[in-house]
Amino acid sequence: MPIVDIHTHVYPPSYMQILESRSTVPYVRSFPPSNSSRLFVLPSEDPPSTTSTGRPIGPEYYDIAQKIAFMDTHKIDISVISLANPWLDFFPSSGAAAAAEALNNDLNATCDKFPGRLFAFGALPMSASVEEIVSKIKRLSGMKYMRGVVMGTSGFGKGLDDERLNGVWAALEETGQTVFLHPHYGLPKEVYGPTGGEEYGLVLPLALGFPLETTIAVSRMLLSGVWDRYQGLSVLLAHSGGTLPFLAGRLESCIAHDGKLHREGKIANRRTVWDILQKNILLDAVVYSEVGLKAAVDVAGADRVLFGTDHPFFPPLEENGEKGEWLSVTTNYKAIKDAFGPGEVEKVEGLLGGNAVRLLRLEV
Ligand code: URA
Ligand code: ZN
Repeated sequence: MPIVDIHTHVYPPSYMQILESRSTVPYVRSFPPSNSSRLFVLPSEDPPSTTSTGRPIGPEYYDIAQKIAFMDTHKIDISVISLANPWLDFFPSSGAAAAAEALNNDLNATCDKFPGRLFAFGALPMSASVEEIVSKIKRLSGMKYMRGVVMGTSGFGKGLDDERLNGVWAALEETGQTVFLHPHYGLPKEVYGPTGGEEYGLVLPLALGFPLETTIAVSRMLLSGVWDRYQGLSVLLAHSGGTLPFLAGRLESCIAHDGKLHREGKIANRRTVWDILQKNILLDAVVYSEVGLKAAVDVAGADRVLFGTDHPFFPPLEENGEKGEWLSVTTNYKAIKDAFGPGEVEKVEGLLGGNAVRLLRLEV
């Protein structure tokens, strides 16, 4: 059974050029005399303070040969690559559709260089019109290596419960493409304390802001009835659904006890959180612990959780001079192995790759 990584990013060279040409987030710059590049991409890194130094960024982000080498080191047979955050969200609306088309062509051509080893989630021009987005979704469905789209949580700037997104959900459902829903925007800095939590590096926005952002975004989709209207819409949640597996019961209970929703008739024919979790939501296994992984498997089912790495983020620290296997990857492998007993080999194989091959149709 192949090992498949469904959460693995790239910034293609053309996108890198854009990052290098910018001086506001998102951007890439160096700090002379050092000529090595640093990435500033998160809203919490904006504006840059004197102590924020971003993260190192090198060819592992844009050189596909390095992705393949990483796959070989970690025994990954197939990767489903996606543009990393913030995707095309910051593009002016006028050029966004053309940029998406060029980028998706580029990703598809990259996959074609390694047939059978690479597939991709395409990028959408979220600052363009609904019609342009829908036309890009339809185009992606005819591209050989595309299996869905990667998307942030902002939609048209107002979140994913925005009714203006109905046409987008309908097109994705109709073409059978999976949405890979990924965080970027986090939480307002103030929740991290008077300094915005800067004294703790990027720990608070990445460890907590990202998963909570995903949890809130998917809860709003659910509450606004997206999955009541589009019952075949499949959404793969990054980082094992943020905190959704842990909070699903509370979410369901708060819905059942909400007088306003009840009075307005909004809960009469709704599908439950549990039902949606089992039929429409896929969870990645990028959660770094047996506890989190078991929760993901409990709510979505072992046949709907999919291995991922988040490469090239979370590399071994330069400061420690670590080489070889990445701790961020071995931690996730270990969590999967520890979560299942000796009689559950089939579940482990499914989670590591079989589920992805089946659900994303990963045959050339
Ligand atoms: N940091 C990011 O900015 N993106 C990821 O996907 C992971 C870590
Ligand atoms: Zn990621």
